[in-house]
Amino acid sequence: MNEMSKVAGAGEELIEPVTVPAEAYISQDYARAERERLWHKVWLQAGRVEEIPEVGNFITYDIMETSVIIVRTAPDAIRAYHNVCPHRGRRLIDTPAGARNARGKKTSFICGFHGWTFDREGQCTFVNHQDDWQGALTPERTSLGKVSVDTWGGWIWINLDPDCGPLADYLGPVPEMLDPFELQNMRYRWRKWIVFECNWKVALEAFSETYHVQTTHPEFNAFGEFRGWARRHGLHTNIGYEAPKNMDENQAKLRIGSGEDPRLSTAEMQVYTWENANTNTTMTLVNAAKRLKDELPEGTPAMEVLQHWLKSARADDEQRGVFWPVVDPAHTAKSGTAWQIFPNFQIGHAVNNMLCYSARPYGGDPDKCIFEAAVYELFPKGEAPETDWEYTDPQNWPPVLQQDFANMAAVQQGMKNVGFRGTQPNPYMERAIASLHQNLAGYMGTGAPQPLK
Ligand code: FES
Ligand SMILES: [Fe+2]
Repeated sequence: MNEMSKVAGAGEELIEPVTVPAEAYISQDYARAERERLWHKVWLQAGRVEEIPEVGNFITYDIMETSVIIVRTAPDAIRAYHNVCPHRGRRLIDTPAGARNARGKKTSFICGFHGWTFDREGQCTFVNHQDDWQGALTPERTSLGKVSVDTWGGWIWINLDPDCGPLADYLGPVPEMLDPFELQNMRYRWRKWIVFECNWKVALEAFSETYHVQTTHPEFNAFGEFRGWARRHGLHTNIGYEAPKNMDENQAKLRIGSGEDPRLSTAEMQVYTWENANTNTTMTLVNAAKRLKDELPEGTPAMEVLQHWLKSARADDEQRGVFWPVVDPAHTAKSGTAWQIFPNFQIGHAVNNMLCYSARPYGGDPDKCIFEAAVYELFPKGEAPETDWEYTDPQNWPPVLQQDFANMAAVQQGMKNVGFRGTQPNPYMERAIASLHQNLAGYMGTGAPQPLK
């Protein structure tokens, strides 16, 4: 727990009602200060390990003005460098027009300005007319700047702070909670990105609570009421659903519909989700849900419906060489539906698929952000589809996500209203938002949630 949290007096677990000033969302000074105080200090999810499968494969990742090259230097080694030539500062690898990032395979990196050349270890191997520098060009002066890099969960993480602590320390309880889901084995089904007219926090916070579901996504009300919870874990939070007594397993993402006939409501919810969100489920789960009415008698208790559905979908997948990890039901319940990794990454996990969101500033403008969503699942070995980040206009996203998007710019506009008194997140269902701001305040020195009473 950091100093700011204590100052805020909101309680370690943030169970008291709080208000968050609008500054963190709309202030230009705050957005500028984020660069040094936040983005240059935290571990950031910068890509997937499988995006650089072979030695020499690289991707770039940009955070505000800083660009980083991430390259595989050996079958078991990944390195990251500042994407800038030490000679006169040309960006070493350009991002193709319209692309989210650069990617490719190289044995060496050659600067397009004067030809300085760097090997995969970041060492300068060629300087034209090097003697002109009279011996002053030491390896320290010519090598690429190193960036800390590590992996967890199948993702590549970077940290721009030369004095940063280990990723494992930063992630705290997250690996212990999510490792049983074997997220590193999942592969992209699709991935899209977009620039929104809102602060990056507005975009992320639209997905870190379930309080909005009944109003923003009214179609889901037909499948039963799901009350969501949120818990703090230091820097990070997780959210999930409450389950009726003796149905703890139904807190997870793979849960059944709570209508009168759970066989039917589960199938309806699965089909609706597949067709309108294309997230949080797989074709195997949808097909197994559709069969529930034929495979189980009317009146089958909800818990049995859930168990049968998951068992038959698991068996179907095993037939095609897709093996879900076995996770203890109590652990599944505790892990909930999604984890918010401070500051800007959300993992919505399950045993056979996941949905992840991230958001970061677009330039230094507090009113714009780059938003990304990716759906992953387990595929038979060698059958994962080839995907890339597709820039996608709002109308071409799945309809359920369009419903979320409709709030983004409107929230940003609303918070600038001179009469806006600050947000008042639900202390139970939207605690992840209060926690984000409590932790942000620890880095930023301002913006801590204040008690509402
Ligand atoms: S700026 Fe790169 S070689 Fe001159
Ligand atoms: Fe939503």
